[in-house]
Amino acid sequence: MTQISEAQFRQAMGQFATGVTIVTCANAQARPVAMTVNSFTSVSANPPLILWCVNKTILPFPAFHEAAHFAIHVLHAGQQDMSNHFAVDREDKFSGIDYTDGIGAVPTLKDFLALYQCETHARFDAGDHVIIVGRVLSCELRDGQPLLFHGGGYRELAATPA
Ligand SMILES: Cc1cc2nc3c(=O)[nH]c(=O)nc-3n(C[C@H](O)[C@H](O)[C@H](O)COP(=O)(O)O)c2cc1C
Repeated sequence: MTQISEAQFRQAMGQFATGVTIVTCANAQARPVAMTVNSFTSVSANPPLILWCVNKTILPFPAFHEAAHFAIHVLHAGQQDMSNHFAVDREDKFSGIDYTDGIGAVPTLKDFLALYQCETHARFDAGDHVIIVGRVLSCELRDGQPLLFHGGGYRELAATPA
């Protein structure tokens, strides 16, 4: 069996280009919680299921692990500051951030390319992460280009040469 280091694994996975999302929920004290996530993917069309993975060691883990509802905001090109804002530990991630209460009192951000409001459908333990499967209850889509993440940095779409 081949053994690879964590650093090699991270570098290899970085070759898989993804979009960037902000996932939000309300914690047990009804406080808004958010984090940047690129492990998001669609799972099932009928019923409409998506998944994402949350690191067990981070501050927002208990809130997301217990949440009955959460929201996924797909970021548009130019929102890398938003992505960085919600990717680091800070006292109040929502200070100066405009949001409203969505389904299940989950904070929903104003600016996004797509918004999926979900109820938690299942959770699976997976190494140092937990896979969270959500059932999509509502979708909102806007025109625009996505923010991408590849090789540890942000990217934007370029059209394939004809
Ligand atoms: C582009 C990007 C994608 C990320 N994707 C994930 C992810 O899928 N799952 C995860 O647990 N953390 C992911 N993170 C890291 C979390 O955003 C970060 O650990 C979390 O916001 C830290 O919260 P805390 O500082 O309050 O503990 C990602 C960070 C970035 C910049």
